[in-house]
Amino acid sequence: MDILKSNSTSRILVAALLLTVVLILFKLSPDLISPNVEGVTHVLVTGGAGYIGSHAALRLLKDSYHRVTIVDNLSRGNMGAVKILQKLFPEPGRLQFIYADLGDAKTVNKIFAENAFDAVMHFAAVAYVGESTLEPLRYYHNITSNSLVVLEAMAAHNVKTLIYSSTCATYGEPTKMPITEETPQMPINPYGKAKKMSEDIIIDFSKTTNMAVMILRYFNVIGSDPDGRLGEAPRPELREHGRISSACFDAARGITPGLKVRGTDYKTADGTCVRDYIDVTDLVDAHVLALANAKPGKVGIYNVGTGKGRSVKEFVEACKKATGVDIKVDYLSRRPGDYAEVFSDPSKIRDELNWTAWRTDLQESLEIAWKWQKAHLNGYGPSMA
Ligand SMILES: NC(=O)c1ccc[n+]([C@@H]2O[C@H](COP(=O)([O-])OP(=O)(O)OC[C@H]3O[C@@H](n4cnc5c(N)ncnc54)[C@H](O)[C@@H]3O)[C@@H](O)[C@H]2O)c1
Ligand SMILES: *[C@@H]1O[C@H](CO)[C@@H](O)[C@H](O)[C@H]1NC(C)=O
Ligand SMILES: *[C@@H]1O[C@H](CO)[C@@H](O)[C@H](O)[C@H]1NC(C)=O
Ligand SMILES: *[C@@H]1O[C@H](CO)[C@@H](O)[C@H](O)[C@H]1NC(C)=O
Repeated sequence: MDILKSNSTSRILVAALLLTVVLILFKLSPDLISPNVEGVTHVLVTGGAGYIGSHAALRLLKDSYHRVTIVDNLSRGNMGAVKILQKLFPEPGRLQFIYADLGDAKTVNKIFAENAFDAVMHFAAVAYVGESTLEPLRYYHNITSNSLVVLEAMAAHNVKTLIYSSTCATYGEPTKMPITEETPQMPINPYGKAKKMSEDIIIDFSKTTNMAVMILRYFNVIGSDPDGRLGEAPRPELREHGRISSACFDAARGITPGLKVRGTDYKTADGTCVRDYIDVTDLVDAHVLALANAKPGKVGIYNVGTGKGRSVKEFVEACKKATGVDIKVDYLSRRPGDYAEVFSDPSKIRDELNWTAWRTDLQESLEIAWKWQKAHLNGYGPSMA
């Protein structure tokens, strides 16, 4: 009896020892936690050095069952954001950064050949409506053509899941609010058109394969990581095309003399444009839910917004409160191409993915973003390629 007992005890000891060795090996070698290991999803995050992509990478890495490869050519994103993520997740094999241009099909193919991705979150793009009207080719190239490159590589290497960053700009200027997923898409600028074309390519292709596709149409994204690790740091040269939160912060910091609000005679309650502002933390949660719920052979299309429209005047007031600066506001005439009112009906994503925006206090989202801005007066610092 005693001999038997000690035998089984030593067997247990040996088994425990083996398990430890295996676990240590797992920790040491990145290749051992590759995708084939059950329960670990290797996600390619294109544009992961950018504003939303970096927040998404951070969100994915919070769950130990994700590993992330970021591909970005830093044309617009920040190496500083990638470095922060690398510091937060230094364990080998959790986060990989590859500097590459998605327009380079040969390189993209090589990346797919060397990494067995389980899923792609495709954020990389150029994303300024105003710029798109001035440089349409840049938009069709870096949105539509590059999405095609990514899709072809996914097909060639049998990557089964795609989460695509689309936009409410694909709807154009619908006459009926709120915007549902059934609202006809009639984009009115090259940015919206290029994104719509990417969607069409993805949807057509998906009909011929078993790929699981989720298309998320975001409304206006604001805010940043509540723990202050990441922020929004657009290139200074893009300031003139900038989004409203950056413009508010620039005015609050005195980088610009004030904020220019274009258009006060729209058919809205206070005459200024109405938009649906979605906090980036809620947005990246939607991506994780989309990834978890993606089904082979199915395309899910979802608006990601709060369902609440806020006027530019409301936004400016919230920004003044969040920054504590009495920003000077100039009210000017309308900017061509702007539409009066845009807000989402987010009930489909609530019903199907159990997602709801809950960071819906504009001032709170802006306070978090402002805190990061103040602590990072030069953004992430000079971008090191
Ligand atoms: N910010 C918004 O309000 C908003 C709204 C709707 C949709 N979107 C979409 O979300 C996605 C991310 O937007 P963002 O605001 O984070 O923009 P961003 O400019 O901060 O990030 C885009 C990233 O893509 C990278 N990139 C661009 N072209 C590349 C290329 N050829 N090769 C490799 N990398 C490349 C850039 O370097 C950058 O890091 C975009 O697809 C955008 O259209 C954004
Ligand atoms: C990034 O990619 C684009 C093509 O999509 C290319 O034109 C540009 O030069 C690249 N930028 C850098 C910094 O590599
Ligand atoms: C996008 O494409 C154009 C070519 O049309 C290129 O010149 C540019 O550098 C590309 N990249 C970005 C980020 O604009
Ligand atoms: C839906 O989401 C909420 C909040 O995240 C969660 O508490 C709840 O359990 C979820 N319900 C289902 C059915 O998954």
